[in-house]
Amino acid sequence: MKSPILSVESVDLAYGKAQVLHGVSLSVEPGEMVFIAGRNGAGKTTLLRTIAGFLPRAAGTVRYEGKDLGTVRPESVARSGIRYVAQDKRVFGKLTVRENIEIAAHVSGERVQEAVDRIVATYPPMEKFLDGSAGSLSGGQRQILLIGRALVGSPKLLLVDEPTEGLAAGTIEDIFRLLDGMKGRLSFLIVEQNLPVIARLADRVYLMKEGKIDRELATREEIEAPDSVERYL
Ligand SMILES: Nc1ncnc2c1ncn2[C@@H]1O[C@H](COP(=O)(O)OP(=O)(O)OP(=O)(O)O)[C@@H](O)[C@H]1O
Ligand SMILES: [Mg+2]
Repeated sequence: MKSPILSVESVDLAYGKAQVLHGVSLSVEPGEMVFIAGRNGAGKTTLLRTIAGFLPRAAGTVRYEGKDLGTVRPESVARSGIRYVAQDKRVFGKLTVRENIEIAAHVSGERVQEAVDRIVATYPPMEKFLDGSAGSLSGGQRQILLIGRALVGSPKLLLVDEPTEGLAAGTIEDIFRLLDGMKGRLSFLIVEQNLPVIARLADRVYLMKEGKIDRELATREEIEAPDSVERYL
């Protein structure tokens, strides 16, 4: 058996006195695309933010490539090769698309042009927007910029929070193709509520309910079974 790139073991997390994550355990194997689904408030974002080092765990362990990430900070998690794409789809709206990419390139030490080329190779239509303000991109283009920017510095694991949320059907297809094109080249843990996207892309699905992993779907049959994911949305 391969060893997981990410392993989350019995993680508890509380905001003040309100415990939100209860003994969450999951894993992602190298090259796997794993989804998390669950209702609003189930704790999906909290879980990704905990892995990304933004929230201090009350208990449990997060291992990346077998190493305990310890009491982590977001910068050190990012340096280790994990990228987090937040749910809010926020870009630096007053800067150009190219400048938004430049910021990530500076942090990672990658050359700006290489980072730009990588994003355009991932999504060619982005080329004509490079010198326009990022604030004028559509929601879908913004999401593509954020995922593209997350690839700067060649991470091994992407954590993506609801990439298709609020997007029109055609744009969801763009995001689907982008993710499909990257499948197998790196590892993914993606929070998603769109059933067809999950059904077409997932290697495995964790279903979250009230801060716990309630069920894991590990085969195509389970993932595609009518109602299996839907019951949790
Ligand atoms: N900063 C915070 N302070 C206190 N409570 C919070 C905070 N962020 C989230 N919560 C609470 O934690 C619980 C889980 O929230 P979280 O955002 O992780 O859910 P989610 O599954 O991502 O939901 P959604 O589908 O709406 O994005 C909710 O009850 C929420 O109100
Ligand atoms: Mg959320």
